[in-house]
Amino acid sequence: MTSQTFPKNFIWGAATSAYQIEGAWNEDGKGRSIWDTFSHTPGKVANHEHGDIANDHYHLFKDDVNLMADLGLKAYRFSTAWTRILPEGTGKVNKKGLDFYDRLVDELLKRKIEPYICLFHWDLPQVLQDKGGWRNRETAYAFAEYAGLVSGRLTDRVKYWFTHNEPWVAAILGYFTGEHAPGLKNPAAGIEALHHLLLSHGLALEAIRAETKKPVKIGITLNLYPIYPATESKKDREAASRMDMILNRSVLDPLFKGTTPVREIPIGKILSRSLIQSGDLEKIKHLDILGVNYYCRTVAKNDSKVPIIGASQVFPEGNEYSGMWEIFPHGIYEILMRIWNDYTPSCDIMITENGIPVPDGLDFDGRVRDERRIRYIHDHLAQVRQAIRDGVPVKGYFHWSLMDNFEWAFGYGPRFGLVYVDYKTQKRTIKDSGRWFRQVIKKNGIED
Ligand code: FCB
Repeated sequence: MTSQTFPKNFIWGAATSAYQIEGAWNEDGKGRSIWDTFSHTPGKVANHEHGDIANDHYHLFKDDVNLMADLGLKAYRFSTAWTRILPEGTGKVNKKGLDFYDRLVDELLKRKIEPYICLFHWDLPQVLQDKGGWRNRETAYAFAEYAGLVSGRLTDRVKYWFTHNEPWVAAILGYFTGEHAPGLKNPAAGIEALHHLLLSHGLALEAIRAETKKPVKIGITLNLYPIYPATESKKDREAASRMDMILNRSVLDPLFKGTTPVREIPIGKILSRSLIQSGDLEKIKHLDILGVNYYCRTVAKNDSKVPIIGASQVFPEGNEYSGMWEIFPHGIYEILMRIWNDYTPSCDIMITENGIPVPDGLDFDGRVRDERRIRYIHDHLAQVRQAIRDGVPVKGYFHWSLMDNFEWAFGYGPRFGLVYVDYKTQKRTIKDSGRWFRQVIKKNGIED
């Protein structure tokens, strides 16, 4: 066995998000978010589950930071809930909300764990949704106000910031397919929301920079996929290229090139002329860190039944799948190389999410033997290591997730954690994968 060592000072972390773990949905002045509304709307989430209590992290955060320290994490990526800080979306500040994140940051720093804050992981204030949500350009300005506020309070201690987590998912699953909150099923709305989310990235970045004299790094986290045609036919290859445009280029081009392929989509023609205003693309094109969330690849075939892109996803037989997606470790290498070759980013690059749902549970002796997760992480890290060897300067890897949590429309079924959570008792148990990951961090690498 040889070992694959990672670069010195490689950042080993784990990630979570506010709605998925915090609970305390209406405590200490918190306002209602679109996920509070959506999860309580019958038929939207599996088994009528919701995040009212979730992992009760709002009350148990000190225990959770202890767990992180026990795992040896160097960094922790979490999101702040807009509704805790500005219950009405803008205007009146809820001090108790800011105080919570202040205490969390102090606790992390006490344990020498670097906080990476993400300002938006999908829980938009419901009051802003009532005014159109991300379809409304004003929401982008409201986001900048919120970003300025949180950073004004925390940039003295927090050096790394992400504006958004997966704006593509927030826009397309939220407004186009309706699988996520707010549950709209309107293609044009999806494209409008995506533009305003990206615009808000640029506005928030300016707001954070205005708040601090300290050298902070500000980035965005994107869900990205290598795309493969289902067959070598011309039609499938063209379908794959349309899929690439909607999944990857719709976010990468604005952020790195200051252009947008959205106008190539037929839907572009029915969008309002004023959607992309002059100067918008210039504002979006700034970032210090690109966070890559990688879970799987997409295999696309020509499919005229699908509106707008005329392509759909296929799941080749004989490949390996988890409860949600295909398992395809080489894709993380492919996507890193693609970003590097096509966009030549001068910003930092890190993996901000990667993980697998494993239907694991406690064995009779209290252990969780999730070998499949260990293999998944190992195989993906080997590919990340290869990308580094081939020239992509990846700075870190955050596993999704620190602990099992509320998996959006799937509810509590899929378990993604390095730590097992018994939702009835809130007892946490470090899984075998957590112990294994602790060794990876300690050795700064994996065995072949
Ligand atoms: C990502 C989300 C994260 C989690 C994982 C499994 O798309 O950012 O919140 O749901 O998928």
